[in-house]
Amino acid sequence: LFGLPGQEAHERVLLATDEQTGLKAILAVHSTARGPAFGGCRVWAYDNELAALNDALRLSQGMSLKNALADLPFGGGKAVIIKPAGTFDRPALFAAFGRAVESLQGAYITAEDVGTTTADMRGMQAQTRYVSGIPREGAFGGDPSPKTAWGVFVSIQAGVRLHLGRESLQGVRVALQGLGAVGWHLAEFLHKAGAQLVVADVDAAKVARAQAELGAQALGVLDILSADVDVLAPCALGASLNAQTIPTLRAQLVAGAANNQLATTEDGDTLQRRGICYLPDYLVNAGGIISVAREYRNEGEESAVMAEVSRIGDRVAELLDRVKREDSTPARVADAWARAKLVKPA
Ligand code: NAI
Repeated sequence: LFGLPGQEAHERVLLATDEQTGLKAILAVHSTARGPAFGGCRVWAYDNELAALNDALRLSQGMSLKNALADLPFGGGKAVIIKPAGTFDRPALFAAFGRAVESLQGAYITAEDVGTTTADMRGMQAQTRYVSGIPREGAFGGDPSPKTAWGVFVSIQAGVRLHLGRESLQGVRVALQGLGAVGWHLAEFLHKAGAQLVVADVDAAKVARAQAELGAQALGVLDILSADVDVLAPCALGASLNAQTIPTLRAQLVAGAANNQLATTEDGDTLQRRGICYLPDYLVNAGGIISVAREYRNEGEESAVMAEVSRIGDRVAELLDRVKREDSTPARVADAWARAKLVKPA
């Protein structure tokens, strides 16, 4: 697509600009086969516009697979806003973005992602109905990160049981790359379950807090991927698993929140050859979209959503079963499984 390697055809891609606020956004709708395209909005200081386009397209493809595997009645889409240089009027920027979302007339529904907050989502409500992830008084809603973390946690539990043959997380060593919105909640869940944490973040304050509150061991950001642990949980940004890093990995299981962890599908094959079980990101990190989708449809309450997110653990078990039966890799099996669901739900 657009001559960009690895990018698939999209139904629609909107390049939205607004001179007054400095908005430069890309709204990518990969598929609406299952329903309106649903996926968060990322704000990032991209090196250039092409890098932003590449990111938006890759992320929106991933959302199609994620929403399908989670059995949500939504298609896949994603938006990115190129962070304006210097100071900018954030509410005005998001108002302009909200108008762009509205212009797609419901083909795309937005929510939080890296660099956006519940306040940004709330601020957009005046411009568009097609927004979720908003705290509501007396009703379910808001920050999806704890739900994402819970989905990753139950995936790690399932992976540890099925691949490492250990019944509990007691004493299991887990390396966490990134202690942000998801990483921090995940660290808390793991700590409570008795896991030993090894952590890294570019933000030293977060690392210090994990050392103080969760008894975590700190490692440098360059060393975390090769930490001597049982489980690696990438919870920073994408493409952390590539030809350079995979040979250095010592974990037996990889399961984390970061989107697009594998640089290429072949990297999934290399992990498998090394005996490392990789649980595909879009399978394990669907807790957040399950949460904002429920909220958007005005359905559910906290416990029902948590129960739905917990079912991600069952899907991990089914995936590993299929991998065995099909003599394939988790990345390839999950991709085929999700693509078979890229049709209107019955
Ligand atoms: P965040 O921005 O709150 O956290 C990312 C953390 O990673 C920050 O603390 C940052 O300092 C750290 N970091 C950045 N580069 C690093 C590096 N090289 N080494 C170590 N740490 C580094 O983002 P959030 O919301 O926690 O998301 C994390 C990942 O999970 C992203 O890839 C996001 O797309 C994905 N994700 C998040 C969901 C959510 O509900 N928030 C849902 C699904 C996926």
